[in-house]
Amino acid sequence: LDTKIDYIEAINTLRKEKNAVILAHYYQRPEIQDIADFVGDSLALAQKAAETTADMIVFAGVHFMAETAKILNPTKKVVLPDLKAGCSLADSCPPSDFEAFVKQHPNHIVVSYVNTSAEIKALTDIVCTSSNAEKIINSIPKDQPIIFAPDRNLGSYLMEKTGREMLLWDGACLVHEAFSIDKILNLYQENPDAEIIAHPESQAHILKVAKYIGSTAGLLNYVKTSMAKKFIVATEAGILHKMQKEAPDKILIAAPAKEDNCNCSECAFMKLNTLEKLYLCMKYELPNVEIEESLRKKAVKSINRMLEISK
Ligand code: 13P
Ligand code: SF4
Repeated sequence: LDTKIDYIEAINTLRKEKNAVILAHYYQRPEIQDIADFVGDSLALAQKAAETTADMIVFAGVHFMAETAKILNPTKKVVLPDLKAGCSLADSCPPSDFEAFVKQHPNHIVVSYVNTSAEIKALTDIVCTSSNAEKIINSIPKDQPIIFAPDRNLGSYLMEKTGREMLLWDGACLVHEAFSIDKILNLYQENPDAEIIAHPESQAHILKVAKYIGSTAGLLNYVKTSMAKKFIVATEAGILHKMQKEAPDKILIAAPAKEDNCNCSECAFMKLNTLEKLYLCMKYELPNVEIEESLRKKAVKSINRMLEISK
């Protein structure tokens, strides 16, 4: 860390000079959320990226999010603080294996979570996020078989919610699979006035005890509007920053992971981004996301279908 630089001031100057917009996910470090022009869930971030008039999009999130922004804005520069900020869920769906799976089930419509690479989006009919997944599944005719990828937990949850049978890809998010149901229930016993709330990437036994299930934006809104004062929050712990800011009178407890002292409820990929790296990527306009035009053209269709249905 270069202590001679005031990163906040330097980022603010670069933002003006380069007509840049800083988009950040709720799982980002507090100081990054605080300097962003917009903080949101994956759907809101994709919508912002689709409508921005900025010349440069600075994506403080993980790679698939920046890539989605680039797919929607081929002529704009899209930079991210750290190219290594991947996603275990996106990694659990390798394109060649998925292509073979799709080919084995030719009469299926393919719905993929936004947490995927551009290659997977190119093999997909409609992208979804946890905010709009139910709406998207319900928009598909009842007799139409569906492949849902890559998150098996979100997929099972959607099958239950919509009553639809779907062929699921067997992927998962490391962070959301690390929560301990026993520790959550112990905490609940000690705090019977608390409400357990969870992201649908969590396992079924966690979702079963949750009072509310939703995307990061949904969870934030629930905490703000619920009559309860205390919440046990089963999603990546970064969201507690915004929750506490927007609901200062609420008591928030991060759901504990199975392993002790492991930081498992934090996404190591999301946390790779720092204020210093944010400043550097804006200054040097690197690392940036580039995407081959024929792949982009294929991938953009499934994202646009999602944006159209989510209007
Ligand atoms: P949402 O912000 O859409 O709820 O997604 C959560 C997530 O895990 C993003 O990586
Ligand atoms: Fe991917 Fe999970 Fe991290 Fe979200 S929390 S970016 S799904 S690894």
